[in-house]
Amino acid sequence: MAIPTRLTQRLGIQHPIISAPMAFAAGGKLAAAVSNAGGLGLIGGGYGDGDWIEAQFRAAGNARIGCGFITWSMAKHLHLLDQALAHKPKSLFLSFGDPSPYIAKIKAAGAIAIQQVQTLRDAQIAIDAGCDIIVAQGAEAGGHGEKRATMTLVPEVADLIAVRSPQTLLCAAGGIADGRGLAAALMLGADGAVVGSRFWASSEALVHPHLHQAALVASGDDTVRQSVTDIARGYDWPERYNIRVVRNVYVERWLGREAEMRAAGEAERQSYGAAVAAGDTSIAAAIAGEVTGLIHTIEPASVIVQRMAEEAETLLGGGWRR
Ligand SMILES: Cc1cc2nc3c(=O)[nH]c(=O)nc-3n(C[C@H](O)[C@H](O)[C@H](O)COP(=O)(O)O)c2cc1C
Repeated sequence: MAIPTRLTQRLGIQHPIISAPMAFAAGGKLAAAVSNAGGLGLIGGGYGDGDWIEAQFRAAGNARIGCGFITWSMAKHLHLLDQALAHKPKSLFLSFGDPSPYIAKIKAAGAIAIQQVQTLRDAQIAIDAGCDIIVAQGAEAGGHGEKRATMTLVPEVADLIAVRSPQTLLCAAGGIADGRGLAAALMLGADGAVVGSRFWASSEALVHPHLHQAALVASGDDTVRQSVTDIARGYDWPERYNIRVVRNVYVERWLGREAEMRAAGEAERQSYGAAVAAGDTSIAAAIAGEVTGLIHTIEPASVIVQRMAEEAETLLGGGWRR
């Protein structure tokens, strides 16, 4: 059973599924589970903590995995890129910033360079920078992102790639949690899918059970793109990006009062950090996308990969070839 695409060929994997490098949640255990199930698993290097990244590469054992970084944050701690590349990852995934300064180094280390983009303009920058794979991320996505919808951004980037750089591969991200989503992504012109929220809701993800529970009972209507939780965590995100979470009491209280919240400063940061650690869902928000409404169980990542691939293959009629 397989859905061969340019992505499976290029990465030497069985299923065209990549697990997103979700900061804090995607550790080595999750990345290894996805790779061992026939996809490509990525560690969420996120904002960059050298000791944490080392521990996660160790946790992944011998599995062939990759690692991702939030580019604007990594740019402040450039040694972390060297540290990750020293582990010979299969790929290095960047998002939220211009990848141009880093692509030559990533490729020289033998890693496949993946860049996640939120606009057509950024896709062109990624092509010019020489990225191997572009991930077109729609606003449905869990975590940080921007405004465009997956349904239109993916085919628009596919058309751009076809004209400007046919050898570049394309993945879709945002709103893909089952075989329907994967099949749709391929139909839109992608070579595969980057899946975040569905793997966030897996047994291997580093997520407090209370936060999992809050997402399981939520529908897509209950999610919101906002910046309250970034301010609460003390992150200075560029203004163009915000983060989709499941609404909770805390988010409702501060939405529209961001300036006031910034002024509250350190006290808010401390209480938010403690709530995340304790799984206090009245304060800490579950970071999940609109697909949270399609997720009803916490399952092992291998089960998620297998079912997604099987469902997509059935929907595509078994005769899928690209
Ligand atoms: C909990 C969570 C954390 C995330 N953290 C990151 C991150 O650190 N870096 C990144 O490039 N993308 C991150 N993302 C976004 C993913 O790369 C991806 O675009 C998104 O999850 C796809 O949409 P989906 O959640 O609907 O599958 C995160 C997503 C989630 C759900």
